[in-house]
Order: sequence, then structure tokens, then C-alpha cells
Amino acid sequence: MSFSPLPNLFLEYLERAGGPTGRLLDLGCGDGSFFLPLLHSGVRPVGIDRRGPAAGTVAAVVGDVHQPPVLRGSQDVVVAANLFRHIISDDPLARFLDQWQQLVKPHGALFLFEDEPARGPGPAGNYRDLQSFLCRLMPEARGPLLARSEFENSFGAPASAGCWEFGTCKNELAPDRDAVRRMLEGGGLTSGGEAARLSRAIEQEGLAYGDFWWACWRRNAE
Ligand SMILES: C[S@@+](CC[C@H](N)C(=O)[O-])C[C@H]1O[C@@H](n2cnc3c(N)ncnc32)[C@H](O)[C@@H]1O
Repeated sequence: MSFSPLPNLFLEYLERAGGPTGRLLDLGCGDGSFFLPLLHSGVRPVGIDRRGPAAGTVAAVVGDVHQPPVLRGSQDVVVAANLFRHIISDDPLARFLDQWQQLVKPHGALFLFEDEPARGPGPAGNYRDLQSFLCRLMPEARGPLLARSEFENSFGAPASAGCWEFGTCKNELAPDRDAVRRMLEGGGLTSGGEAARLSRAIEQEGLAYGDFWWACWRRNAE
């Protein structure tokens, strides 16, 4: 699970997608952290990722989420969790959003989930700084946390085919702070004094995901 508690609106769509003909597509599924806990609700998510199972993902489809190899209008629910911020720099106009919306059936929905960057210092500020640090180390694969307001202002306009709805919740999950400190202190990711500074801040103040935001785009009836 990447985010908890999941919003009621998402759980309602999940219930609908749990029927015998229901279809849920998880874009950028990775190791299934978001996807695997959903199996309890009866849905059978299909994951797509550019890295296949040999690289440790649960992808049933290996492909590029910029143009998912999936039939238009075939999905009850399309989910992108922890994905948007990593791919927006490849396509700053986010034309892939249009591709994702086209996969959704009438009355179906596209959901995005992202961590909200904390404004100040403290445990959630350390998580924000950790994400910026990782992003500087691996700019080709990672993006910094993105605020809901930035997404809303740039991409949240209503359109004829559907409209967006947004929410923010506190993420009650706890990151594995010891694993993060081991990673920062390990040789592989050491970068000047920044890794050591972050590790000290995490030790002294803690580490928390803070808030997360979700965006739901619902397709209108045809
Ligand atoms: C941060 S992980 C998120 C995994 C999962 N959704 C979660 O919430 O735990 C991002 C995943 O997106 C995948 N990814 C990034 N860019 C992609 C692309 N253009 N096409 C397909 N997958 C991509 C990465 O391989 C990675 O597994």
C-alpha cells in the first residue's frame, strides 16, 4: 500500500470494478505496492510498467505509459500512483493524460495519487527533501514531489468529456526510516555532505509521508 486511507470515492469505483466484467489498470505499477492490497476487494488489477517482472515489477504488460498499449474505452478504473511527478518532465504538457483518459469507459474514472510536499521542516519536510535528493541523483527516473495546487492550476480544467475532482488526506502509513538511513549512509548513494545531513535530520526529527493528494477525472456518459 502506498497511500492510506484511500478516499471513499476511489473505494466506490473499486467496488464497481470488482464485478465480473470489471477492469482496473495500474499505470507504472512497479513492485505492486499500490496494486497488491487491492486484490482483497475482488478487483483483478492489470499492471503496466516499462520494467518487466525480471526487474522486480508485477507488470502484466511491459510498455510505456505515455502511450499505453491498451484498448480505448476498456477500463472502469485507471490508476497512476506515484507516477505523474516522475514523468511530467518528459512531457511538460502532460499529453499522456489525454491518452489515459481515453482508456476509461463512460462512467469510469482515472485516479492519480501523489505525495504533497510539506511546507516546513520536520518529519514530512525530511521526506520532501529525501525525494528532492533522490531526484538529483536520478533525474532521468525521478521527479520531486508535486503540489496538488500546481497540478490543479495546470491540468485541472474541466473538459467536455469529463471533469476533475480533488482531495487531500494525511497518509497514515509510516516510511521505513531505518531502511532510508541505511540507504543514505551506504556507499552507493553518498553525495557530498547532503546524504549525511539528511540522515542526521531523519534521526533527530523523524520521517513521515505527510499529506497526499488525489485527483479523479470522471468520464461523462456518451
Ligand atoms: C515510484 S514507482 C511507483 C510504483 C507504484 N505505482 C507505487 O505507488 O508503489 C514508479 C514506477 O513507474 C514506472 N515508470 C516510470 N516511467 C514509466 C514509463 N514511461 N512507462 C512505464 N512505466 C514507467 C517505473 O518503472 C516505476 O516502477
